[in-house]
Amino acid sequence: MSLNRDTANSSSTVNRPADLAHNQAAWDRMANNSHTLTRPVSDEEMRRPLKTIDPAGWLTGGIDGWNVLCLAAGGGRHGPLYTAAGGKVTVVDLSGAMLERDRYVAQQRGLDLRTIQTSMDQLDMLADGEFDLVIHPVSTCYLPNVAKVFTEVARVTRAGGLYISQHKQPINLQASLTTSAGQYSIQHAYYDTTPVPRATEPSKLREPGTREFAHSWASLLGGICQSGFAIEDVTEPMHAKSDAPIGSFHHRCHFIPPYIRLKARRNACVRRSNLVLG
Ligand SMILES: C[S@@+](CC[C@H](N)C(=O)[O-])C[C@H]1O[C@@H](n2cnc3c(N)ncnc32)[C@H](O)[C@@H]1O
Repeated sequence: MSLNRDTANSSSTVNRPADLAHNQAAWDRMANNSHTLTRPVSDEEMRRPLKTIDPAGWLTGGIDGWNVLCLAAGGGRHGPLYTAAGGKVTVVDLSGAMLERDRYVAQQRGLDLRTIQTSMDQLDMLADGEFDLVIHPVSTCYLPNVAKVFTEVARVTRAGGLYISQHKQPINLQASLTTSAGQYSIQHAYYDTTPVPRATEPSKLREPGTREFAHSWASLLGGICQSGFAIEDVTEPMHAKSDAPIGSFHHRCHFIPPYIRLKARRNACVRRSNLVLG
């Protein structure tokens, strides 16, 4: 499989409104085409919601009565699951079609949840310290710059609250999707701020038609810490199979870890130079 440069945005100048519009349209299309990542929750998953949403056991005490923000998490899966687990849920997403799935599932299952269409780094309609828990599935790759996401998440999370996020690892976005002579190659520089090459054929590692950006570890992990969180735990969801066919999804995952999942807790205060923010 070959990769194409996204010529619409190949200069070093970031065009945030164009990137947002592009990705909103791409996710609307994916929802309208019932892409796997836009499929609503199943009956089986709804029978054991906490087990489904918390494979690492980070929420073992339960979330009954918690205010939960499902950030960039439309599609009718996360919102309904966290509601069924006892949360009072707000789902934020850029794509109207993805949020429509949440409203449909909520209506079908008699669940109460709030949906807000906005970008994950523009949360001005949400109050300071409003949430006990922010859940953020893989989506930072759709923004050219992530700094503001983390400061906004910190602002809306109460002191002591949790921020659970998942991200594509930089190497996953830098590397070729398939092999040449059995080898994966680095096709995108670590510090390149332009979109990563697009997949030219369907791949579980790239969402069709989206514009994706690789973010450095300093901007992901450092950004979360500097915004006022302490990272308490880290996992790498396992998709590797050492005996998988060369070039397949599971084979690539054996060489290149695709995702990282982080559990972070909001500090009581954020210290930046001589400024202390509550
Ligand atoms: C991987 S999906 C997450 C939920 C999905 N249902 C799942 O099961 O994983 C990523 C979501 O991020 C949303 N998204 C992309 N860019 C966004 C942005 N700037 N702000 C908010 N949401 C965004 C997409 O519309 C999409 O719904």
